[in-house]
Amino acid sequence: MYSNKLSESLRLNKENLEKRIEERTNELSLSNKRLKHEIQRRIKAEEAIRKREALLNETGKMAHVGGWELDVNSLKQVWTEELYRMYEVDLNYEPTLENGLAFFSQESRPVIEQAARRAIDYGEPFNVELTVITAKGNLRWVYIIGKAHQKNGKTVKLSGTMQNITEYKRVLEKLESSREQLRNLSSYLQSSIENERKRAAREIHDDLGQSLMALKMDISWIKSRLPNDNIPLLNKHKSMDETITHTIKSVKRIVANLRPGPLEDLGLIAAVEWQIADFQNRTGIKYRFHNDLEKIILDTDRAVAIYRILQESLTNIIRHASASEVDITLLIQDGKVILKIADNGVGIPEDKITNSKSIGLIGMHERAGFFGGEIKIKGIPGKGTIVDVIIPCV
Ligand SMILES: Nc1ncnc2c1ncn2[C@@H]1O[C@H](COP(=O)(O)OP(=O)(O)OP(=O)(O)O)[C@@H](O)[C@H]1O
Ligand SMILES: [Mg+2]
Repeated sequence: MYSNKLSESLRLNKENLEKRIEERTNELSLSNKRLKHEIQRRIKAEEAIRKREALLNETGKMAHVGGWELDVNSLKQVWTEELYRMYEVDLNYEPTLENGLAFFSQESRPVIEQAARRAIDYGEPFNVELTVITAKGNLRWVYIIGKAHQKNGKTVKLSGTMQNITEYKRVLEKLESSREQLRNLSSYLQSSIENERKRAAREIHDDLGQSLMALKMDISWIKSRLPNDNIPLLNKHKSMDETITHTIKSVKRIVANLRPGPLEDLGLIAAVEWQIADFQNRTGIKYRFHNDLEKIILDTDRAVAIYRILQESLTNIIRHASASEVDITLLIQDGKVILKIADNGVGIPEDKITNSKSIGLIGMHERAGFFGGEIKIKGIPGKGTIVDVIIPCV
């Protein structure tokens, strides 16, 4: 009896145990499945992060842009691979604030320190162009953008980008130096032209001018010996004398145009007045000259530039504008000489203003550009053309 009960209880216990083992096994297999699933998910997530990091490094390398982050409390930094490449250090290099700052050149270090300080203290963003010296001693130009991340009004982190712009700077330098060469060449050409004009003016004046004067004296001598009653001869003599006088005047005008003579003798304002008056005499185009200056003190090179620009503008008006009036203004404003030439002609077409074949206009731009000045040209169809010349006095 007792033995039956015992075996029954054992059987029940066993059944119970088996049931619990089965339940536990099921539970374990379920959590095992979940775990496997979780592991799979993490592997995938890590894979995605690795891919993104590789992409970041690859694109960073292509664009020469690195990323950086500074923890304001620990002063430790995180760099993307491109930054290690830019500084020419290996990937074991420990990026801290101090280590990073040490790469900046003597002139750049105070600038980046100040920018970082202001970002930390006031949350100010920054972008600066600076130079760094790499671990291998190479100089590089970098463009850095930085911004502050704040928590409860306090900056906790700075982050940003750093772009290697050395190549761009080199190209820019080359461009600037070739521009400088062009400016020098253009100035050399202008002064050669001026010298050549002066030489030609001197030759014409001394040779042609003298010969014409001698001719005039000779025919005056002839006249004194002509019989008073030989009317045809006297008439011939008169017309020869007039032709010679006219030629002398022409030579004088050509000489005056060739060398900025009035400029040398009278100064800019009088020379400009002389030039416009001569322009009116030759063309009949009316002019108004607005000038409230007694005197302009300008060095010869600038004065010649203004004189020649006016000369080219007036020639253009004669040749292209079909104008009946010209307004010319000469003044000084904010340390700049301003010459404005406005005609009431057909108006310069837009495409001529920027055309690389407009050599006369290009010459005007070059003359002004050499002194850091500029020329603005505007045409209004049927209304006229305005040329603004602005040249700094010093
Ligand atoms: N005041 C003006 N009114 C109307 N058109 C003008 C005026 N000035 C210039 N232009 C136009 O602009 C063009 C370019 O002028 P630019 O002085 O460069 O050349 P150009 O006078 O034709 O020749 P050059 O080289 O002998 O000066 C002219 O051909 C003309 O069509
Ligand atoms: Mg011209």
